[in-house]
Amino acid sequence: MRVLGIETSCDETGLAIYDSERGLLGQRLHSQVILHRDYGGVVPELAARDHIRHFLPLLGELLADTEGRIPDAVAYTQGPGLAGALMVGAMAGRALAYAWRVPALGIHHLEGHLLMPLMDATDLQAPFLSLLVSGGHTQLLRVRALGDYELLGESIDDAVGEAFDKVAKMLGLDYPGGPAVARLAETGDDAAFDFPQPMLDRPGLDFSFSGLKTAVRKVIIDAPRSSQRDADICASFERAVVATLVRKCQRAVQETGLSTLVLAGGVAANVRLRRELAACPGLRLVYPPQALCTDNGAMIAYAGCRRLLHAAQGDALGLSLRPRWPLSALSALTGES
Ligand code: KG4
Ligand code: ZN
Repeated sequence: MRVLGIETSCDETGLAIYDSERGLLGQRLHSQVILHRDYGGVVPELAARDHIRHFLPLLGELLADTEGRIPDAVAYTQGPGLAGALMVGAMAGRALAYAWRVPALGIHHLEGHLLMPLMDATDLQAPFLSLLVSGGHTQLLRVRALGDYELLGESIDDAVGEAFDKVAKMLGLDYPGGPAVARLAETGDDAAFDFPQPMLDRPGLDFSFSGLKTAVRKVIIDAPRSSQRDADICASFERAVVATLVRKCQRAVQETGLSTLVLAGGVAANVRLRRELAACPGLRLVYPPQALCTDNGAMIAYAGCRRLLHAAQGDALGLSLRPRWPLSALSALTGES
């Protein structure tokens, strides 16, 4: 089965075609980073307009690359995300499916991230743990079967990617902040500042990153400004964030007895996080290639294919977007693990 995947939930226009026999056949991605950079964050209306501008040219290129063959189905991100941005991908996806007379299926954006690492790790079977870390979400999940997700813990305030972005903004670094902070951290001393490692003293698997962000702001105000100070702040911040995430994952392993962890979402691109999780004794860590951690069409094509192959039906005509949509509200795919 060949599935066209469409991702437009935020600031990337992503299109890809995944074939269940031959793997990923092609993909196109347009990032809106430059468009939003001056605002220090994503401007929803600009995002939606830019998706409209780029969708058809990207589709034309992708279809030309994949022999112009019409896919067997269209999968599009149905939520969560920015309503206007979601609308562009959903409308375009539904219209294409209607014209091609193939099914269209709305996909949960986080399920797309979560399943992405399985595209290559074909031996991986549920149950396993997943740490989903993106700009909008920080969640530890028990994946009982595909589609059957139990939320074990989540951030009670800022998402981890959001914390990276806010620290970058305070330091005047480029948007998106995660890669900029991680880059600067490489030249910093991670022991220069003793930032709090939130929620470690409390039981449970929830996270909190807003106190850490406030501690960083205080240092920025108090410590004399220098480029080395900024690098030290980034390194010390990254150390605190990674230590918190790693300790919570270790706790989840102990509590559930599961020893495989799928790391997914934009922050899964963070090299220190990958390295420290990979060093945990007895833990099998699975993550996507760097370029497929952040939003892309391949993850939606792959998730759509997995669902359609396991008897999911295409959606009825009509459009229902879900800008807010808990992952635990999905239903399990029968016969899948
Ligand atoms: O999954 P994603 O592309 O979009 C959402 O669904 O939110 O994640 C984007 C987030 C941004 O907050 C970005 O700063 C963060 O992922 N990010 C990183 C790195 N690369 C991207 N955070 C830390 N280190 C990185 N290398
Ligand atoms: Zn995402």
